[in-house]
Formats: sequence, C-alpha cells, structure tokens
Amino acid sequence: MEESPAAPALPEAFERRFLAARPLPSFPWRSLEEKLKNSLDSELLLNILQKTVLHPLCVKHPPSLKYTRSFLSELIKKHEAAPSEPLDELYEALAEVLSAEESPQCHRSYLLPSGNSVSLSESTAIISQGTTGLVTWDAALYLAEWAIENPGAFTNRTVLELGSGVGFTGLAICKMCSPKAYIFSDCHSQVLQQLRGNILLNGFLLKTEATTLLQPSVSTQISPKPTVMAVQLDWDLVTTDQLCDFQPEVIIAADVLYDPEIILSLIGVLQKLSACQADQKSPEVYIAFTIRDPDTYQLFKMELSKVGIGWQKLPSHNKKLFPYEKHSEIVILRLKV
Ligand SMILES: C[S@@+](CC[C@H](N)C(=O)[O-])C[C@H]1O[C@@H](n2cnc3c(N)ncnc32)[C@H](O)[C@@H]1O
Repeated sequence: MEESPAAPALPEAFERRFLAARPLPSFPWRSLEEKLKNSLDSELLLNILQKTVLHPLCVKHPPSLKYTRSFLSELIKKHEAAPSEPLDELYEALAEVLSAEESPQCHRSYLLPSGNSVSLSESTAIISQGTTGLVTWDAALYLAEWAIENPGAFTNRTVLELGSGVGFTGLAICKMCSPKAYIFSDCHSQVLQQLRGNILLNGFLLKTEATTLLQPSVSTQISPKPTVMAVQLDWDLVTTDQLCDFQPEVIIAADVLYDPEIILSLIGVLQKLSACQADQKSPEVYIAFTIRDPDTYQLFKMELSKVGIGWQKLPSHNKKLFPYEKHSEIVILRLKV
C-alpha cells in the first residue's frame, strides 16, 4: 500500500524507504508519476537517485542487489513514461548493479533526527538460520520512536534489552538517549554474531565483562557513549544468579510475543530479574509488539495478571520517524514487575 507522501517531500520519502529497504509498493510512485507528467527536466529523478542508490550511506552499506535492481527498473519505467529528457545516470546505475554479484548479507539504514544514522547488516530472508532474529521487525522501529520521544526514560541508566535481534532499537537508543550502559541480549548464536557486528558497525565498542556495569559512576554527568555489551541470554536457561550481574534500571523488548510458549518464558525471566535487584527497586519494563493475533495479546495480559504483574498501555507517540506500514496495531505495554 502506498503511503501518503504529504510530508516529508517526495525525494525524502523515497530516501527513508530506500535506505531501510522497505517493500517497493510502499513507495509514493503515484505522486512521482504526477510530478513527472508535468515536468520536462529530470532534476527530480536525479535528486531521487542521489537520495537512494547513490546515497553515501547506501554506497558504504548497500542494500541487496536484487532490491536495488527492482527499484531502479521501476524508476526507469516511470522515467520512460514521462516526457522528460533521458537521464543517463539512471541507466549507468542499473548497468552497475547488473554486473555486480549478490551477497547473502544486505544492509538497511535508518536516519535519526540528530542527522546521525543506524546501519544494520541483515539477512536477505525474513526467517533464516531457523530464527526470526536476523531482520528488524516493525515493533523495534516503533519502540525506538517512542524512546527518541522519551529519552529521559533511558538517560544515564542501565538498560537491558531482551531478544535484541540485529540490534536496531538498542543502537537507536544508544545514539539518541544517552544511557549509562546498554546490554543487548539474545538466545541465538547466529543472531548474536550479527548483532555484535552491527554494534561495531555503528561505532560502539563491546565490553565482555558484566562487572564493568556494576562499578558505580564516579560522576553524574552523562557520558557521550554508553558501556555496551551483547550477551547470550536464553530466558528458559538463564539462572537468577546470572541475571543478578546486570542490575538493569530499564528492561525493554520488541516483538518477542509471537507464540504462547514464549510468553511464559518472557514472564519467567522478568520475574527472575525483578527478584535479584540489589536495591529492591523494580526495573521499569517496556514491551513493544505488533498485535498479529488478539488471542496472543489477551493471553499475555492474562498470564501477567496470574503472576501479579500489572500493565499499562502507553499512549501512541506523535512522530513517525521510521518507515513502516501499520497493517496491524503496534502497542507498548509498561509492566509493573
Ligand atoms: C521477532 S525477533 C525480534 C527481534 C528484534 N527485537 C526486533 O524487533 O527486530 C524475536 C527475537 O527474540 C529472540 N528470542 C526468542 N526466544 C527467546 C528466548 N527464549 N530467549 C532469548 N531470546 C529469545 C529471538 O532469537 C529473536 O532474535
């Protein structure tokens, strides 16, 4: 479904979607056709080409060749249907991707309001290596938007993320919300490997010892870069002792409620985490998810009630910063563990 390009302007709408390698039907093609119909010069197309295929971020961290090829073919179709002058740059760009070789890894990049960006190396398949963790899901984008609008929830605090996948939400928080420490976690080895690569790709160093997290801050000043860790943490296997090393003040997770079994595992790990807080102060917990099946959502709330965990649905935030289509409702629940 094509999104309304009302704001931002057309080239920027193409830029945001292309950098994040969103599905081609979501691009504002119809608005482009309208604009091209009434113009004889190729400036708009050149501008779009520079903001997409030739964007410095794409040149450094390219999306899949197949995707770039399909995008350029579509752009050329629109160009050829319009009365404007032939644009050599479009054909040159296509010739370049046609002669290149596809790699099993591709990149997606997301522009942040600070002018900075998050780039991720991802798998070209939605489910690969038997996990859903090798691509970024829409709830991860939604949770990052909420965090950017509410940086105070993270500033100068230790954050633990459960089921981080390839790391988008955490990287956006690390770049925009100044946490003191950020612990990415996942159970899947392949996901962790990809995650660690993405953390380094985005300019953060990885600490390996959880003890560095427990050292008290010598200053109350916000440090420019958080201490970052990426740990293997399986909610079914982790012990309370292992969790006690982290002492998070905030716990977050995006799109981790996709079947009934996982719900019980997640609630179990939250209970363990709450049980080992040194100062008896419960961490703040934010869980974001797409409601694909209302029964799973009901079950989650029912299981929370059974173990005495309260929840509150956060109001939708105002600004849509990242490109995703809201086919299903996405919510964030704040839990009182
Ligand atoms: C749908 S992906 C979401 C990834 C990321 N949060 C996002 O929204 O893009 C679910 C993630 O939860 C992780 N996961 C599933 N079960 C888990 C468990 N028992 N312990 C730890 N992580 C788990 C998976 O490995 C996967 O990375």
